[in-house]
Amino acid sequence: MKVSVIGAGNVGAMTAMRLVEKDLCDVELIDIAAGLAKGKSEDIMDAASVIGYDTKISGSEDFSAMKGSFIIINTAGFARKPGMTREELLSKNTAIVKQVGENIKKYAPEAIVINVANPLDAMTYVIYKTSSINSKKVIGMAGLLDSSRMDLAIARVLNKPVKKIDSTVLGTHGETMVPVPSETKVAGKKLSDILSDNQIKEITEKTKNRGAEIVSYLKTGSAFFGPSACAAKMAEIILKDKKETITCSCLLSGEYGIKDIYLGVLAVLGKNGIEKIIELKLSKQELSGLTSAAAAVKELINQCTI
Ligand code: NAI
Ligand code: 2OP
Repeated sequence: MKVSVIGAGNVGAMTAMRLVEKDLCDVELIDIAAGLAKGKSEDIMDAASVIGYDTKISGSEDFSAMKGSFIIINTAGFARKPGMTREELLSKNTAIVKQVGENIKKYAPEAIVINVANPLDAMTYVIYKTSSINSKKVIGMAGLLDSSRMDLAIARVLNKPVKKIDSTVLGTHGETMVPVPSETKVAGKKLSDILSDNQIKEITEKTKNRGAEIVSYLKTGSAFFGPSACAAKMAEIILKDKKETITCSCLLSGEYGIKDIYLGVLAVLGKNGIEKIIELKLSKQELSGLTSAAAAVKELINQCTI
């Protein structure tokens, strides 16, 4: 099976490397910057004998190289700098993502698309509209990352292994993220039975601000080790038809009373893309957070010229 990764920058190159190192699929890395995708893919191939994988990666500046892909992962887009919100990337990234969507329509109209570019939920909508691919096959990557970040924040407070923690984070990958403590478990126990309200509040704030915290350390770009692990994991679930439930950005059609908006919700992924959206029983406050998140994404979508 072939997966194309668009954008050979930090997230794209690392995602491509993770995919071939897992021996999951052949990868085509595509970037408009001359030589970048070719250079990085050849460099990654030099590790094949040492790491021990048979999968192949090649690089191109030509979008037609995505032909025959089962999955396209889009990472083309500007990353934020210190002090910027993801939302501030909207106009520059709309133009890039629109170009990617149009090329997917032309060269890989049957593919499943995982979008990573920010602002995540709005850019996923732009790819859905410009590629004309069925919404069940256009998915945004963010909730898995935000949930994993919340797992880590809890693990550090409790000094417990991160594997014992199962967090749920819904809403946008942005200012209106909705960490859901009522659906978060530590070794099967409810988070609220273990931590105080204040501790939970601190953890949810830490989760919301984690992307900005990483940007403030890096200074020249945003996170890519965590994000690439999540994009590769989503591709793996789909390629292996694992029917795993994760949070990802899906087009809603009435769930939680929200329609025609991409938003982070729990969904089952498999070989058809989004196999099922799971609607949780949320508290009044969590539901109101999700409604505000939908309004924020709608406002961004309205500003996109597509
Ligand atoms: P980067 O700047 O390292 O890489 C972006 C790459 O896209 C560059 O190599 C650039 O040449 C390429 N590119 C630009 N226009 C293109 C086009 N029209 N066609 C093909 N390639 C094009 O940025 P990085 O760190 O890889 O981040 C990429 C995007 O992912 C950003 O928008 C960032 O905000 C987002 N992101 C989202 C995350 C999430 O959780 N959803 C997490 C991390 C990053
Ligand atoms: C992050 O959360 C920048 O969206 C990216 O790290």
